[in-house]
Amino acid sequence: MKQLAIGIGIIVLLLFASSAWSKMGGSDINFEVPDRGDVIYSHDLHVEELGLGCTNCHYQIYSTAKGVSNVTMVEMQKGGSCGACHDGTNAFDVVANCSRCHDGS
Ligand code: HEC
Ligand code: HEC
Ligand code: HEC
Repeated sequence: MKQLAIGIGIIVLLLFASSAWSKMGGSDINFEVPDRGDVIYSHDLHVEELGLGCTNCHYQIYSTAKGVSNVTMVEMQKGGSCGACHDGTNAFDVVANCSRCHDGS
């Protein structure tokens, strides 16, 4: 388990060091959610407009590559993934506001 975590850390470090994303701070991430509508997570918004630092999310919340986190809404309501901040205090919550993240209505 520890070795796996280190392995993932190295992969993410390599990603950070490469030019795999077009803008500083990562690209737009598309989470495919067929039964509710896809979610586009924007690094631009969170990093450039809101001024969050990379370490607010990496690697405590996200240590994975693009769109593979596979977190459920129930887990988000308990503070996982987007729910770490989208809890109704630091940012709008995930108990409602579905369409602010999910495509479609
Ligand atoms: C508000 C949270 C948040 C912040 C702040 C953040 N990221 Fe991310 N980052 C994410 C999410 C979500 C993913 C997708 C993770 C997943 O799919 O498991 C991601 C993935 C990535 C990836 C891999 C995918 C890609 O874009 O190619 C890179 C590289 C990355 N981030 C770089 C950065 C850098 C550099 C910063 C700071 C300038 C940063 N991130 C700040 C949330 C954040
Ligand atoms: C480190 C904290 C943090 C994390 C993690 C985070 N956000 Fe945010 N996000 C914010 C803050 C702060 C705001 C601005 C306050 C607000 O709108 O309530 C915001 C705003 C937004 C907005 C509003 C855009 C607009 O103007 O309507 C969207 C959409 C969004 N986040 C999506 C996501 C998604 C999707 C994830 C997970 C993949 C995520 N966020 C993870 C902190 C975070
Ligand atoms: C802050 C952004 C955000 C809000 C608000 C939000 N979601 Fe999500 N939702 C996501 C993201 C991102 C994923 C994909 C997560 C992953 O794959 O790691 C997701 C995944 C899902 C899934 C598939 C996983 C599961 O739990 O079954 C469903 C269904 C879903 N959302 C429904 C909803 C509904 C209904 C609401 C409103 C009550 C809502 N979402 C509000 C960001 C959000």
